[in-house]
Amino acid sequence: MLTKANKRELTEVLLASKKKYRPAKKILAEANIKDYNAIIKKSLENPIKFWEEAARDLVWFKPWRKVFDSSHKPFYKWFIGGKCNLAYNALDKHIGTKIEKKLAIIWEDETGRSRKLTYWELYQEVNKLVNALKKQGIRKGDRVAIYMPNIPEIAVAMLSCAKIGAMHSVVFAGFSAKALADRINDARAKILFTADGSFRRGKIINYKEFVDEAIKECRTIKKVIVVKNNKNKVKFNKRKDIWYHDFVKGMPTEAKCAQMDAEDPAFVLYTSGTTSKPKGVVHVHGGYMVGVLRTIKWVFDLHGDERFWCTADPGWITGHSYIIYGPLLAGVTTVMYEGVPDMPKPDRIWKIVEKYKVNVFYTAPTLIRAMMKYGAKWPKMHKMPSLRILGTVGEPINPEAWEWYYKYVGKKRCPIMDTWWQTETGSNMITPLPCATLKPGSAGKPFPGIKAEVVDKKGKPVPIGKGGYLVIINQWPSMIRTIFNNPKRYIKTYWQEIKGAYFTGDVAFKDRDGYFWIQGRTDDVLKVAGHRIGTAEVESAFVSHKSVVEAGAIGVPDPIKGEVIKAFVILKQGVKGSDALKLELRKCVRKEIGPIAVIKDIEFVDKLPKTRSGKIMRRVLKAKELGLPLGDTSSLV
Ligand code: PRX
Repeated sequence: MLTKANKRELTEVLLASKKKYRPAKKILAEANIKDYNAIIKKSLENPIKFWEEAARDLVWFKPWRKVFDSSHKPFYKWFIGGKCNLAYNALDKHIGTKIEKKLAIIWEDETGRSRKLTYWELYQEVNKLVNALKKQGIRKGDRVAIYMPNIPEIAVAMLSCAKIGAMHSVVFAGFSAKALADRINDARAKILFTADGSFRRGKIINYKEFVDEAIKECRTIKKVIVVKNNKNKVKFNKRKDIWYHDFVKGMPTEAKCAQMDAEDPAFVLYTSGTTSKPKGVVHVHGGYMVGVLRTIKWVFDLHGDERFWCTADPGWITGHSYIIYGPLLAGVTTVMYEGVPDMPKPDRIWKIVEKYKVNVFYTAPTLIRAMMKYGAKWPKMHKMPSLRILGTVGEPINPEAWEWYYKYVGKKRCPIMDTWWQTETGSNMITPLPCATLKPGSAGKPFPGIKAEVVDKKGKPVPIGKGGYLVIINQWPSMIRTIFNNPKRYIKTYWQEIKGAYFTGDVAFKDRDGYFWIQGRTDDVLKVAGHRIGTAEVESAFVSHKSVVEAGAIGVPDPIKGEVIKAFVILKQGVKGSDALKLELRKCVRKEIGPIAVIKDIEFVDKLPKTRSGKIMRRVLKAKELGLPLGDTSSLV
């Protein structure tokens, strides 16, 4: 599995692994957890007990009978018999305490508009929407789709669904109408939330237009609830559409919270896999809140009064867990920014950090690399004294970007938490804690209670310093429960690749200190600017064009986005490749998937390398593209 290039990388990684940063005295003195190795060791003596203790940080309407059940594996269960509610813990439990008056959300958009909501205000907004949704017939178990920009109403909508016990399905607003329709139809959602538009780089994106196109294909949607976010003129279908403010008008500000079983589903979130059909990852009320609260408190060292800014979009798992649920479960303030990071100038991000006195800043390597491009002078203009802890997620961070982040953003006083995890894991899995010694480019060790390993195809641990498959060999509360409507695919994707372990799809190395170095995906999933896109999805988008017979898509390294997409396309007989056709194909992919699937390059070819069984050998395409050795080509025809 390891190519020569990987081996070369490994040597570099092992050299890099010698560079260490010990935690600053002040950080260590204040840290909730003071000894990284000791806490991990202790938790692994009895991981189930560890998670049981973590669950006691939350409010349960009825305690669990049993912490963990594996009798129907791989359909694992946690906190069996327990009754709880994710939204209750994120919101209702704070009412009547001193947190009630604290800011829950600080929001700002690209144009500089700002809104602040206290926990009490957010609670009232949620209750109004709960009542309106109930009046509309939304019940426990129903699905509600959300396709919205990063505005407070997205949090209100998610929390309202959870409070009723309906499952939300947030679809990232960078997806196309077609991608939205596919996700709505798979979930059979009854209601769709959207907004009239959002500012991005000074221009308004009209989400309503995409929604109008999408719901032409969606029979299950009864109502479209539209937030008036801009004064953008949108088409209104009186039968289906309703303004959000009219929908909640006059609704009572108190609402009953559904008592959910710990294993009742809380939400579905679609993510790309190795086929062209996205997977609806299902998370539940009980275990999810336990994993998210324990990780946010320990990884970001929360003491209760922080302002937490995660720059992700709520449409991704990072947004679910660390913009919305995590900060609210912990009773801290979450910052939301609706806009691009370099408007009007490349110090917008650092300005927001200063303006709102952000204590924890959590972002993706792509953003750091994009900011590096503008130069250190921009973060140097801002002292950002409130910052304590930094974080990164979504893709491997190169040591150079890590050092820049540490020096110019963290001013050498803030530790960087490089958190490895996935949509499926629900919360951080491999990560340092602020008390840990840091190594730039490594995600550190598995979080307490988690047993991760690097293994070969047979599931045997590989020696230290050797690359292999990253697997998780025990279970954890916030893990995926199933793929919506497709339990067989759940079993096949995660539990049949490596016997007895959860298959992550990533390759990693472990160094002598037990630190993990994530190298990227082993499968055909790409990471473009931290966004997960399946090569099969991209290929099927190409093939949907009338001139295309077949396509092979690969990721090629990009200094800022991590990876970008290159496609090799076979055209129908008689069709001539041209720049105009390339443009048309790009548009076609954009229409099928959305603007996140940026195609860097298209090459017209006569043939694609294939195995005897007809599978496109993307590995060979990639090696050729990058001028690397082709590796084992014995199965190539
Ligand atoms: O390849 C790993 C990469 O992101 C994948 C999961 O993508 P997604 O489900 O979209 O969730 C992203 C945010 C949790 C992983 O399989 N990945 C995530 N975090 C890191 C990472 N790769 C390296 N280092 C990380 N810190």
